[in-house]
Amino acid sequence: MKRERMLETTFCGITCENPFLLSSSCIAGNEEMVDRALAMGWGGAVFKTIGFYHPEEVSPRFDAIDKEGASFVGFRNLEQISDHPLEENLEALYQLKKKFPEKLIVSSIMGQTEEEWTRLAEMSTQAGVDMIECNFSCPQMAKEKMGSDVGVDAELVNRYCQAVRKGTDLPVLAKMTPNLADMTVPAKAAIAGGADGLAAINTVKCITTVDLQHHVLPDIGGYSSVSGYSGKAVKPIALRFIRDMAACKELQGTPISGMGGIENWHDAMEFFSLGAGTVQVTTSVMQYGYRIIDDLIDGLCFYMQEKKVQSVHELVGSALPNVVESDVLDRHSMVYPVWNYDTCIGCGRCYISCQDGGHQAIYWNRELRKPQLLGKQCVGCHLCKLVCPVQAIHSSKRVAKRMPA
Ligand SMILES: Cc1cc2nc3c(=O)[nH]c(=O)nc-3n(C[C@H](O)[C@H](O)[C@H](O)COP(=O)(O)O)c2cc1C
Repeated sequence: MKRERMLETTFCGITCENPFLLSSSCIAGNEEMVDRALAMGWGGAVFKTIGFYHPEEVSPRFDAIDKEGASFVGFRNLEQISDHPLEENLEALYQLKKKFPEKLIVSSIMGQTEEEWTRLAEMSTQAGVDMIECNFSCPQMAKEKMGSDVGVDAELVNRYCQAVRKGTDLPVLAKMTPNLADMTVPAKAAIAGGADGLAAINTVKCITTVDLQHHVLPDIGGYSSVSGYSGKAVKPIALRFIRDMAACKELQGTPISGMGGIENWHDAMEFFSLGAGTVQVTTSVMQYGYRIIDDLIDGLCFYMQEKKVQSVHELVGSALPNVVESDVLDRHSMVYPVWNYDTCIGCGRCYISCQDGGHQAIYWNRELRKPQLLGKQCVGCHLCKLVCPVQAIHSSKRVAKRMPA
């Protein structure tokens, strides 16, 4: 099969050139930006959320958590929906669909009343988009009963989906908030209300930094508020919610667009394997630019060629059978850490972590300046392997646990 066609897929009945979409945010904030991104190879874009509400934004509006040289691993924003005029946004959607008929153009909408949701759906449909995404999940709207206030209320989600359904025949996605315990509850309400698919996750409510003058960052004239966290740090939370929805019996077969911390093709593959049919990206584009699409496309193509996989559909949900309830896990066997002394640099991090955070199962051989395992003490937790900075520790094969003496 030709490489350009390898990643072609269908999502909610619509053909997409590839499953990689810009997620709704400042990276898809105007026609010129989306135009450039689509020309570089993105399969589609969910445009910045539009609505009748006109937000006044704060400055500064971002903060980030960094670690050991990475520019940041977690990102916090206080942005609301688009502050461009609604007419300008609808015109941008119209022009984008006209210029890129083969790309997936999604209108992300947010209303304040049922009438507004219906009207926004109608207007988006008239603009010629392929799909509508309902933003039930922005955690920093400066107005009650908008954004994630809606997403945590299954009854409101249901009503607003019905309102959107009234205004369009297009496929409708409900974008869910992670700021709750069980995402399947509003997800089921959305589908019952007429949504065709789900998108997740929007940002996680957070406070990232308090400086030594007691200012919570970003410092907006001495004050700040709780707002949304995204980027690499939220990927584990996102994967868990995608899996929960994909594994939910009542939601079986519901298309899911996954996002939260995707930086490269491997991250994307993890989302596919847990049930996402397309993936969306914001924060890593903010860090590295639209060009990350090259890695996403090349990496996934190579992987599919290597595994002789014909279509993205074959990847979707492939890891789901491996996630089971914790009471089913094997608790009678274990794996030991094994050191490769050729690559071990003798830094002692495994020794320190095992002494102070593990089971004192590593002995420090002062002559060799290397760690050695005390097998009887080891419980096979693998903390040592995780802290090793040079991947000098691997796992033994699984063996039966020792019986207590
Ligand atoms: C600056 C910024 C603005 C955002 N604006 C929107 C928005 O208008 N509508 C929306 O549905 N999500 C919005 N999001 C959430 C993203 O679409 C996405 O759900 C979230 O950031 C997780 O993906 P990521 O880790 O790839 O950024 C925004 C995120 C950021 C960082």
